[in-house]
Amino acid sequence: MNDEKLYLVLMGLPARGKSTLAIRLQEALRKSRISTKIFNNGNLRRIYLRLQETSLANYYHPDNTAALEQRKKFSRINLERAKAYLRDKGRVAILDAANVSRERREMIEKFLDDHPIIFIECINEDEEILNLSILEKTRLPEFSRLDCQTAQAEFLKRIDYYRMIYAPLKSERNYIRLDSLQNRIIEEKQSDSISLYLLIKDVLVTDVVKNLFLIRHTETEYNVSDRIGGNPSLTAKGRTQAEALGKFFSKHNLSYIFTSGNHRTIQTARPIAKMQNDCKIISIKEFNEINGGICEGMTYRDIEEKMPDVFQRRKADKYHYVYPRGESYETMKPRIEAGIKKTLFLNRHADNVMIIGHQAVNRMILSHFLYRREDDVPYIYVPQDRFYHIVTTQNKKLFELRRYS
Ligand code: F6P
Repeated sequence: MNDEKLYLVLMGLPARGKSTLAIRLQEALRKSRISTKIFNNGNLRRIYLRLQETSLANYYHPDNTAALEQRKKFSRINLERAKAYLRDKGRVAILDAANVSRERREMIEKFLDDHPIIFIECINEDEEILNLSILEKTRLPEFSRLDCQTAQAEFLKRIDYYRMIYAPLKSERNYIRLDSLQNRIIEEKQSDSISLYLLIKDVLVTDVVKNLFLIRHTETEYNVSDRIGGNPSLTAKGRTQAEALGKFFSKHNLSYIFTSGNHRTIQTARPIAKMQNDCKIISIKEFNEINGGICEGMTYRDIEEKMPDVFQRRKADKYHYVYPRGESYETMKPRIEAGIKKTLFLNRHADNVMIIGHQAVNRMILSHFLYRREDDVPYIYVPQDRFYHIVTTQNKKLFELRRYS
């Protein structure tokens, strides 16, 4: 089959980032002037069964035949709508649902027989991320009748029920298995000639950041005395700076603020979150400041005087130098990358994302998005009275150091 039109059928257990990916694909394809539309089974269920309880896991049990029929019906409605869309002016139809059973996928293949299909499986088994995603899901109106703990337990059971009918992609003609946390293609199979295949793979592996506001925590007690590391609090000036940040960002809609686990970043985040409508602070330990090992809590002058060897060796090769019992910029890299992936996964497709980090951490985050030679990274300017605004999409790259007051 060689065709201009295409079905993208998502697949994967609940809370694996399918809907976020569907939106990302739709946005990227539309930017390339390719008419694209999402057909989401969950949304249909929520509209048609407004008055029925579908948040309890039992609704998803493989033996619940009545519910199974209902869900099949929604799938069928979307298949019909997707087919009609491509018959008309549409070029790509994205079907967003779990589609984990072979039986369901066979039904899809049988029905969508007029254009090629690419199945895209979203895979993510990172427990911490899954727990956070589930927590977020259970805050949706669908679960409003359940208390938080019950909602989470029911959602976990729902995932188990989907696992019971899960069959891996194999006989399907075209498929891509994607690590949806790392945006990495794990496996692919292409039997049909599909003109959009390369573009789609590019979208899958690209970190899209519409607006990243990268902020360094405001002034701390340690900054004043020039001490490194530790877990100090903000000074009065630092608190005023944080208030100013809050005021500045009140014009921007933030659902989350990602911080490190250190007090100073969380204290900076609080006044900003307070000026928002509904904004959650999420601490990501991967964003903790570089571990200064035996030098934690010391001033640079102390280090120079008491540990001249440490001081000189770090000066000679700052990127690679590992503090005794601590870290280097180089050894921080994997955790910073992991923190960025977590942040982008949890932030989903929101327009704005804010990270409040530290001097060394922010240098590493900046260098992730903007290529810098390793030797230069430890010298990137990270002031406390300004922030970096970063945009990186398929078609646009922007880096700007901006004032907030
Ligand atoms: O001085 C503030 C600080 O965040 C320290 O906690 C950290 O050790 C240091 O900056 C990292 O910057 P540099 O690599 O330039 O020493």
